[in-house]
Amino acid sequence: MNTALLDTFPELARQYGTPLWIYDAATIVERIEQLKAFDVIRFAQKACSNIHILKLMREQGVMVDAVSLGEIERALQAGYSPQGSPAGVVFTADLLDAATLARVTQADIEVNAGSIDMLEQIGQVKPGHRVWLRINPGFGHGHSAKTNTGGENSKHGIWHTELERALQVIQQYGLQLVGLHMHIGSGVDYSHLKQVCGAMVDTVKRLGCELEAISAGGGLSIPYKEGEQPIDAAHYFSIWDTARKEIAAHLGHAVRLEIEPGRFLVAEAGALLSEVRAVKDSGNNHFVLADAGFNDLMRPAMYGSYHAISLLPQVDSSGSASQRPTVVAGPLCESGDVFTQHDGGIVAPRLLPQARVGDYLVFHDTGAYGASMSSNYNSRPLLAEVMLEQGAHRLIRRRQTVAELIALETEV
Ligand code: LLP
Repeated sequence: MNTALLDTFPELARQYGTPLWIYDAATIVERIEQLKAFDVIRFAQKACSNIHILKLMREQGVMVDAVSLGEIERALQAGYSPQGSPAGVVFTADLLDAATLARVTQADIEVNAGSIDMLEQIGQVKPGHRVWLRINPGFGHGHSAKTNTGGENSKHGIWHTELERALQVIQQYGLQLVGLHMHIGSGVDYSHLKQVCGAMVDTVKRLGCELEAISAGGGLSIPYKEGEQPIDAAHYFSIWDTARKEIAAHLGHAVRLEIEPGRFLVAEAGALLSEVRAVKDSGNNHFVLADAGFNDLMRPAMYGSYHAISLLPQVDSSGSASQRPTVVAGPLCESGDVFTQHDGGIVAPRLLPQARVGDYLVFHDTGAYGASMSSNYNSRPLLAEVMLEQGAHRLIRRRQTVAELIALETEV
């Protein structure tokens, strides 16, 4: 996010309260532009599923992916239509619960099947339904073992040697194959790209089936740390385009190339704004306690992920020039509620200017897998979300109240 925008944050904190999710629409539009060479950009909304973000995506010509009934309803609410080719919404999962099976077949939503059982279940209800096959090519990569979605330890996709059987099921039920899809993990650099594209080309040639499209999946990383290089989108496209051309030549007709990013489109557009509520020393550690916890931003606690943190001094900026090793933690009753972590270590102090109670902290690059992974742990309500657009700001989700949170139990 453009650092000049940080000047507006104290006012946003006063107007909407903290902690607060903030998104910059211009950054999202910029990232979309970088991927426009692909025929279809399909936003993996699990990264940030606010309906107003989805509307922005739709206005920019971006299609959407859904992984649950809730995400399907969000997409439809944002104005996406399942009809047409390419479809506005594609449902990607490894299983179908009964309610979702009913919804996708009733609303004609294309299904990207990660298991053969899904194909059978759809076929029994609705012959002719449009389906994709999500392939597990036998290898995967990710920023963490928890985000690697290929190889034999992954539950995702149809194992590459089972694809012939999947095609038989498609034929048996008269389903219509739209395309093949491969998403080998999240937070992948492009050093493995040729291997992925090669697996896609080989699979198409081996299966000898007809298809309209291939999907490159998502997974594109972003520079979370200073010095990390952003992905070269043009290079990324050119490698996939070469694979697509080889597939098109093999099939004798044009083939649509889709990409399905989540993080790349929204991570850098988002920030979490939080207020410092306590400052204390415990032995050698200097703790700064913020009002946001891992129930709000889970990534550091879950994966040891790094998010840059800036201090917005409100009380006394005289100490801002000198930095000291600081552990930034939250309010939850759990020792892992620490934002300055790294792989395997809970407390990894980071050099930050001296913070005081009443100052604000900004957690950067939290637009992806920030709000969408939040929970009500410790009975803390979900936060408000604000969008910055053309010099103005607007509330795109109001803060949940404690009354709403407990109503599920009191209203039974
Ligand atoms: N397509 C499929 C089928 C996926 O499973 C995912 C992510 C994506 C696309 C988008 O991946 P992306 O472009 O955002 O890397 N919570 C983790 C990330 C989990 C990703 C799950 N699937 C994190 O905070 O890093």
